[in-house]
This record gives sequence, C-alpha cells and structure tokens, in this order.
Amino acid sequence: MKPKILTTLELPKHALDILEKYFIVEGGPDLVKDRSKLLSMLKDKVGLLTAPHIKVDSELFDHAPNLMVVSTYSVGFDHIDVNEATKRGIYVGYTPGVLSDCVAEVTWALILSTYKRISEAERIVRARKWVKGIYKEPLGRDLKGKTLGIIGLGRIGRRVAEIGRCFGMRVVYYDIVRPPDAEKLDFEYCDLDTLLKISDVVSIHVPLLKETYHLIDESKLRLMKKDAIIVNTSRGAVIDEKALIRALKEGWIMGAGLDVFEQEPLPLDSELLDMENVVLSPHRGSASIETREAMLNLAVNNLISVLKGQKPPALLNPDVMKVRPLDKTKVLQE
Ligand code: DGY
Repeated sequence: MKPKILTTLELPKHALDILEKYFIVEGGPDLVKDRSKLLSMLKDKVGLLTAPHIKVDSELFDHAPNLMVVSTYSVGFDHIDVNEATKRGIYVGYTPGVLSDCVAEVTWALILSTYKRISEAERIVRARKWVKGIYKEPLGRDLKGKTLGIIGLGRIGRRVAEIGRCFGMRVVYYDIVRPPDAEKLDFEYCDLDTLLKISDVVSIHVPLLKETYHLIDESKLRLMKKDAIIVNTSRGAVIDEKALIRALKEGWIMGAGLDVFEQEPLPLDSELLDMENVVLSPHRGSASIETREAMLNLAVNNLISVLKGQKPPALLNPDVMKVRPLDKTKVLQE
C-alpha cells in the first residue's frame, strides 16, 4: 500500500498525477476552514503539503505521529513552528528563490501605483468623473533622483533595489546581516532610523519573526518624510497596522501600497478600505502563472525527496537531519 499524504491545496491535475504515483493523496482546500477535520485526517499521514493559510504548530504535530515532512507552498514560514518541527524530527521544505522576481515586480507595481497615484486616478475614470481639460489632481511624484529605502536586502529586496537603480534612484538599505558582497554593492547601508528619515520610498522585505514583529511602529513611522510612501509585500505584522492607519489619516506620510495585512483576508470593517492614499492588493506577490508553477514544483519536490530519503532542494531546518537522519525518512523507493 502506498504511503499517505495530506494537502490543504487545490492541486492542478499534473501535480496530483505526480504525487499519486507515489502516495495516496487526501485533503484539499476545504480543510483550510475546518481545522478539526484537518487535525483528524493527519494520523496516518507521512507528509503534509500546505501553505500559509494554516497554522502548523504543536497542536497539529500532536495529531500527526507519523509526519516526517511539511512542505509549504511559500517562501514565508511564520505559519510554521520550525523549532518544534525540528525537535520532532519533521523536515520543513519551502520555496525560496523561485518567487523573488515576481514579488519584486509586484512590489514595483505597488510602488508605481502608490507614488504615481494610479489607483486613485483610475477610480476617477471609473466613476465617470474625468472632465475635459489638463489633468490635475491627483498628481503623482517622480522617482528619478529620489531615495529608495530597502528594509531587508535578501533575494527579493535585492531585486527591488536593482530595479530602483533603473529608475535612477539612490538606493539605501538596512538589514541585520550585512551581505557578504556588501562592499561591492551599488547600494548604501544605513541604520533603520536613518533609512526612514531619508527615503522617499520605503519597501519592506524581511520575514516575520519575533524580532521583526511591528518593526515599523508609530515611532518609526513618525521618522518618515511627509511625502514618502511605504510599501509592504512581506508580512502584514511587520508594520503596526493601527499606527499605519493613523499615519495615513493624519498625513505623517503620503501613502502606502500594501499586499499583506495583520489579518488576512482584510476585515470588512478595516479603515484601510476607505482610504484614498492606500493601494490594496490581496496578498498576491507570487501570483503569476510561471511563479506559482515553479513554487508548486519545488514544494512537490521537497516533499517527495524527503520521503525518498534524500535531502530536499529547499530545506528550512537542516538541523532536523541530526534528529531524524534521512535514511529514517525513506518510505519510497527511487
Ligand atoms: C510566500 O511565499 O511567503 C508568499 O507570501 C505567499 O504566501
């Protein structure tokens, strides 16, 4: 009998075909809304293929005594208790690299839309309020010669920075880790407060960790220029959303482009929904046909590799190999 895996994703046929060569595949997207059903289905599963839409924590692991691998269809892993997984000998695979260009492009879509006020202008056209004459309000701002502040110069931050240079921007960055090639970079390092004070466009690219929760709070927002914008395509809780709403309402900053929120989907009573100076996007930084395909391939490969007893292409917790060596995860033949 084939080993069993559980998924919370709606898998396209070609991915399901690959997985079904090796496994009995159970579950589907309905489990996202039904946690008790999800937990009850884990008992006999060796693998879980999932995404940030569920919490993968001790409670889940307690229901999954045979689980050897969690493969998430995301680069973000704040939904997974990685330390607990490692302690229990559960491998965690994720999808770094393959989505960096796409997220950087979406970041730029938000920067342009917010700084050039495209969404606001589009609402005027759609409301049939475009009147004859020289187009005036809302006027946007030019990027050339302005300063782009990148918070987190990882794979995505770097790509956003490179594109910023093409717009003729000065690029500054802040990161807790200085990249090994820092000296050679065409971007200037500065501390976070300085970055916030001097940047016209601030873009966030750090993972959500204990250390980055509300990294941008009221005190940080107050450092920003009144005509600056902030864009977030990382995780909502890196910004204190209540403070951001005040900043936008009271004019401490010019605008915000947001793909991620403290609570997702965005609550229907969120004040952000009625604010003109905010561009909203429903967490779709990686939402392109090519990128989603590459992410799925990597997530499926991560899962199959572990269960073949091989190191997966993108392993988040390599220490797990000391707890459960790969020869103990082999439930599949080559
Ligand atoms: C990621 O891959 O982490 C994206 O934000 C999708 O959740």
